[in-house]
Amino acid sequence: MIKIYPSILSADFSKLGEEIREIDNAGADGVHIDVMDGVFVPNITFGMPVVKAIRKCSRLFYDVHLMIEKPERYIQAFADAGADGITFHIESTDSPECVIDLIHETGKKVGISIKPNTPIPSMDLLKEVDLVLVMSVEPGFGGQKYLEAMNRKIEDLARVRYEHDLKFEIEVDGGINLENASVVTKCGADILVAGKTVFEAEDKKECMSRLREG
Ligand code: DX5
Ligand code: ZN
Repeated sequence: MIKIYPSILSADFSKLGEEIREIDNAGADGVHIDVMDGVFVPNITFGMPVVKAIRKCSRLFYDVHLMIEKPERYIQAFADAGADGITFHIESTDSPECVIDLIHETGKKVGISIKPNTPIPSMDLLKEVDLVLVMSVEPGFGGQKYLEAMNRKIEDLARVRYEHDLKFEIEVDGGINLENASVVTKCGADILVAGKTVFEAEDKKECMSRLREG
């Protein structure tokens, strides 16, 4: 079953709690939380205090996507704030192995993410993680167009997973809509992140069902 994680980057921040309760009631499988530092990406969102504040709004899986330089500095803090899974960019640190270990130590699910121009991570990393997040737009902003070239990368990643009998989930983030969801899942995605598509939908429940069915 494909999982849909709405990205709260497209929510109305003036009523974030309400927005999260709404997607929870509408059947979301998790909440995707984009943390940006204005250095790794050219945008700034929010940090641990906001994650802590919204933790009480839902029991859904809180999927924290760190787009920050040197994420090793903040792993424990995001775990303490209420993340269920922590995903960082392998481009953002000198030692992805150490960051993976740090997340493991917190007991949270471990995710690694790659930007559109970054090749599939090495086997040494893939065998240690619960999730690989394929960015299908340049990270930093919601509402961008899905990069078709990522279809091939998702397929390759799914093939590597199969060939090596690995278990990580494949999550795809950026530009997912009702037109391309089915192709992306056919390529091998297990989790679709959708910001604009879900938050701008009149009927969020129906929108998520359609994204899930492809
Ligand atoms: C972009 C973020 C995405 C973004 C997706 O850097 O990582 O999670 O919110 O937004 P849409 O679905 O609108 O492309
Ligand atoms: Zn994201």
